[in-house]
Amino acid sequence: MIIFSGNTKEGKPYVIRNLEAGDTEAMMRYINKLSLEQTYILRQGEQSTYEEEKKFVDDQLKQMKDGKALYLVIESENCIIGATQINLKEKVHSHVGHLGISLALSYRDQGLGAKLLGVVIERSKIELPSMKIIDLSVFAINDRAKHLYEKFGFKEFGRLPKGVFYKGEYVDHIYMHRDVIMSST
Ligand SMILES: CC(C)(COP(=O)(O)OP(=O)(O)OC[C@H]1O[C@@H](n2cnc3c(N)ncnc32)[C@H](O)[C@@H]1OP(=O)(O)O)[C@@H](O)C(=O)NCCC(=O)NCCS
Repeated sequence: MIIFSGNTKEGKPYVIRNLEAGDTEAMMRYINKLSLEQTYILRQGEQSTYEEEKKFVDDQLKQMKDGKALYLVIESENCIIGATQINLKEKVHSHVGHLGISLALSYRDQGLGAKLLGVVIERSKIELPSMKIIDLSVFAINDRAKHLYEKFGFKEFGRLPKGVFYKGEYVDHIYMHRDVIMSST
C-alpha cells in the first residue's frame, strides 16, 4: 500500500509503501550495497543470499500481519532506495518498538530521511496502536542521524562506551527514546 508519493530534489518520483512479498530481490540488492558501503549500520560488508533475504522478508511480513512490526520502503525508478522499520519487543517490553532507518548513498541529505521517519512514526500510531515508546541505537560518530533523531524528539537515555567496533576503532553506542505521542510541553 502506498502511504506517500513525492519527488526528490532532482525531480525523480518516489513512493513510500509497505514492504511486499515481491520485494525480496530488490531488498537483497539494496541491503547488500548498503553493507558494502560500510556506513553506520550493523552490517559491514556481509552479503545476504536470496534465500536469506527471502527468510527475512517473509519474517517481517508475518510480523506485520500479526501487528508486531511496520516495515516501510522508499522506492524510486523501480529500485528500493531506503527502508525503515519498527519492530515491537516481546512480553513485558511489548509496548516498546525498536526503530531502524537507512537510505541509499545518493539519496541522502535531501530531506528523504526526515520524510521517511515522519511517515513511519505517524503510520505506527495506526498500525501498532499498543506501542507507547520507540527506542533506537546509533553510533556516537553518526552526527547526521543523531541530529535527525533529536529533531524528531528522541533523547539519549544511555550509551555503551566503546560499544561499537567500527573501521578499526571503538566508538560509543548511544541509545535514544521518545514517546509515540509526545506531549506538547
Ligand atoms: C541517517 C539517514 C537515514 C538520514 O537521512 P537523510 O535523508 O540523509 O537526512 P535528511 O536530509 O532528512 O536530514 C539530515 C539532517 O542532518 C543534518 N546533517 C547532515 N550532516 C550532518 C552532520 N554531519 N552533523 C549534524 N547534522 C547533519 C542536515 O542538515 C539535516 O538537518 P536539517 O534538516 O535540520 O537541516 C541517512 O543519512 C542514512 O541512511 N545514513 C546511512 C545509514 C545510517 O546512518 N542509518 C542510521 C543508523 S542509526
